Amino acid sequence: MLRLVTDVHADHDVHPEVTMTQFDPDPPAPPVGADTVAELVTIEQFLDDRPTESVPRPLTSLLYDLALAGKLIANRTRRAGLTELMGASGVTNVQGEEQKALDLYADEVVTSLLRRGGRVCAIVSEERAEVTVVEGSGQYIVVHDPMDGSSNIDSNVSIGTIFGIYQRTTDVGGPPDESDWLRPGRDLAAAGYILYGTSTILVLSTGQGVHAFTLDPEVGEFVLTWSDMVHPDEPAYYSFNHSSSPLWEQGVGDFVAWLERPDTPSLSQRYIGSAVADFHRNLLHGGIYGYPAETGLPEGKLRMVYEGAPLAFLAEQAGGLGSDGHRRLLDIVPTSIHQRTPVFLGHRALVERLQAMVQGGDASSGEEASPES
Ligand code: AHG
Ligand code: MN
Ligand code: MN
Repeated sequence: MLRLVTDVHADHDVHPEVTMTQFDPDPPAPPVGADTVAELVTIEQFLDDRPTESVPRPLTSLLYDLALAGKLIANRTRRAGLTELMGASGVTNVQGEEQKALDLYADEVVTSLLRRGGRVCAIVSEERAEVTVVEGSGQYIVVHDPMDGSSNIDSNVSIGTIFGIYQRTTDVGGPPDESDWLRPGRDLAAAGYILYGTSTILVLSTGQGVHAFTLDPEVGEFVLTWSDMVHPDEPAYYSFNHSSSPLWEQGVGDFVAWLERPDTPSLSQRYIGSAVADFHRNLLHGGIYGYPAETGLPEGKLRMVYEGAPLAFLAEQAGGLGSDGHRRLLDIVPTSIHQRTPVFLGHRALVERLQAMVQGGDASSGEEASPES
């Protein structure tokens, strides 16, 4: 400390024109999302400013818990290569998929924080065979994929946490039951994801548009960086695992072939293999993400409750659409918590065109070049 003061004076002597006032440190550089510190909107402020009819206080608290989970998982994700977290845990989940250490860590963080917060009565996780029922007076059910894209962890590629929140319909006095979580996605009170990429971004909707908050790692706050996100009119990308195309039904193949025609919207193909990251890129730049049914995977790969429904909710809130190829995803009532579904998400007109082609309409013919036609 003494040395610092001495250094300042020494510097002052060398540059006599520099006054002590000028030695005062500048205000810290504004975190992302604001030109000045005064303009900065944290996720807490953003939610606190929402009318309580639309975002009741217990829901706000629950969202803070998920934001905190995101910070902890982001922190651990950054260190994955330095620790044992890249690898397999040696355990297989209920769906027969190998669990990574980070899958289990993320699940534990989300579950622990939600249990501690006292706002939830039940938690559905990809990594748990059964629903976790939480005693107490919690009014909400959280469904989540704690770590989406986990096959990408050891390649240092973006991964994320997907979540959806339902308000319980059963009486708070008694135990929750299936009717609280086997619900159509249109009942969601909120949905979102936390993407661990080049930065950590929390994307959220409580039914009033889609908003994104970027974690400033220096300050430790999620700061509003995009509000009222909408799918761009001009789609830029389509995201399908092309290697599976021989296994798709005819209509899906026809749709992708239509996309690739020179007179149709010229989309680039981008496929990360983390649905959450593919969805996010397409939300920013426009496009469609698809994981169709395949020969041998008649229901597709993604899970209805904690992947399809939350992402479809966000897609619709951003002016897009989510479909299983036949039906609006948000209208489907799941019959089990780990049920799979084909998923098509993104630009509304593209999803509608895909539906038309899957359902047998010959939408591939004609000269139309725009996604709407
Ligand atoms: P998860 O890591 O939660 O099991 O999800 C992985 C999913 C999804 O994120 C991604 O789009 C898809 O698997 C990729 O599968 P393919 O490798 O078969 O394309
Ligand atoms: Mn997933
Ligand atoms: Mn997962």
